[in-house]
Amino acid sequence: MKVTVLVGSQWGDEGKGKIVDLLSENYDIVTRYQGGANAGHTVVIGDKQYVLHLIPSGILRENVTCVIGNGVVIDPTALLEEIELLEKNNIKVEGRLFISHNAHLIMPYHKLLDSISESGENKIGTTGRGIGPCYIDKYARKGIKIVDLLNRKTLEEKIRENLKEKNNLLKKVYDREELDVEEIIKQYVEFDKAIDKYIKDVPAYLNNAISEGKSILLEGAQGALLDVDQGTYPFVTSSSPTSGGACIGTGIPPTKIDNVIGIVKAYTTRVGNGPFPTELTDEDGEMLRKIGCEYGATTGRPRRCGWFDAFLVRYSAMINGIDSVAITKLDVLSGFDEIKICTGYNLNGKVLKSFPTDAERLSSVTPIYKTLPGWKSDISSCESYSVLPDKTREYLSFIAKEAGIRIQIISIGPKRQQTFFVEN
Ligand code: GDP
Ligand code: IMO
Ligand code: MG
Repeated sequence: MKVTVLVGSQWGDEGKGKIVDLLSENYDIVTRYQGGANAGHTVVIGDKQYVLHLIPSGILRENVTCVIGNGVVIDPTALLEEIELLEKNNIKVEGRLFISHNAHLIMPYHKLLDSISESGENKIGTTGRGIGPCYIDKYARKGIKIVDLLNRKTLEEKIRENLKEKNNLLKKVYDREELDVEEIIKQYVEFDKAIDKYIKDVPAYLNNAISEGKSILLEGAQGALLDVDQGTYPFVTSSSPTSGGACIGTGIPPTKIDNVIGIVKAYTTRVGNGPFPTELTDEDGEMLRKIGCEYGATTGRPRRCGWFDAFLVRYSAMINGIDSVAITKLDVLSGFDEIKICTGYNLNGKVLKSFPTDAERLSSVTPIYKTLPGWKSDISSCESYSVLPDKTREYLSFIAKEAGIRIQIISIGPKRQQTFFVEN
């Protein structure tokens, strides 16, 4: 396949980083299309662990070129720190990373406004990276883009104009100190010097690459249920992680997308607030968190854990147009005597026909469970589907049928080798 979209199919942290790293061996270009440094994509190579926030996970394969599309919001500090960290580890970034001139910049006031809105009532439980406020400015047509860095005069004017409004808001509404305009201008001029060499006309670059027969892997951040339109609004992020977002966030048209791979965790996790029907607040949930090391790769927050929700994944497969999936973290379920799978929801005595994304209805559903026996043996060094215990294969067949997905890849540990393809 030449142009593939890879999407998180639940509430994020499905193991996208690991699978992008694995698949990128066979792609020329890996491109991020939305989100920002709220993402934390973990790649483990040997005994070294990398957590990527803005740079595509393909950067760890030396023959891969990485691109940050226009749909991504870029925090200069986070980007420069990430480049520095990679280069310290002898991973060459210059000449291998390109950034869209149309991507928007996260400004210091975006992070501040994110934290102010999270300090009030109705918290979303954001990552605090300024994501929401930056997308607000983008859609209000007040945003500052990468391309603005190229013209010092325009940059200064835009920062001054924005600061006038933001300082007013900070002072008059939130009773906070004003931000120093000159300091911010200085900071962003410095940033321009550091990233000038990475700026590219990304739609032209990617479409030319496709014409030349190159292959592109589009790396989604977050997950489908965190999508601002299709997710569990308002407990979502402010971008479009679903596969449709890949076109908007890069300039690759829908007619050039060949396939969509969904990354599906063998159970469910969620960070931040919002409804989570299969959440486990008992010792089973604790066990999933402990064995699965379910702590945020960006914020370190404990992730909420629960059983696999086939009803949710079926919805996700539909809105993303998923062709095949990678099941990750299957090894984490090995210690359980019994494993539950949610096959549908009951609401007010009725079995629901379609997945309810609105927070109110979703918080009131009762999951319908099927219980399967656990396999109680270590599968983390299995090398193929056929050597998995019978009960593990039964679990996989059951979730595939219930969620309406085709399992193509199975991941049984964080390392590259702990993965195999399913022949079918
Ligand atoms: P992402 O945001 O989707 O890239 O996922 P994260 O990196 O935030 O979280 C996934 C975590 O699970 C990371 O710590 C990975 O190293 C780890 N991981 C990925 N696949 C597997 C797997 O199959 N088994 C286990 N035990 N850990 C995995
Ligand atoms: P990756 O790419 C899991 C969640 C936050 C919060 C909501 C909104 O690593 O899977 P935001 O800071 O985006 O405004 O927060 O979205 N969230 C994630 N949860 N994985 C992520 O990224 C996430 N990025 C944002 O916890 O609930
Ligand atoms: Mg993550």
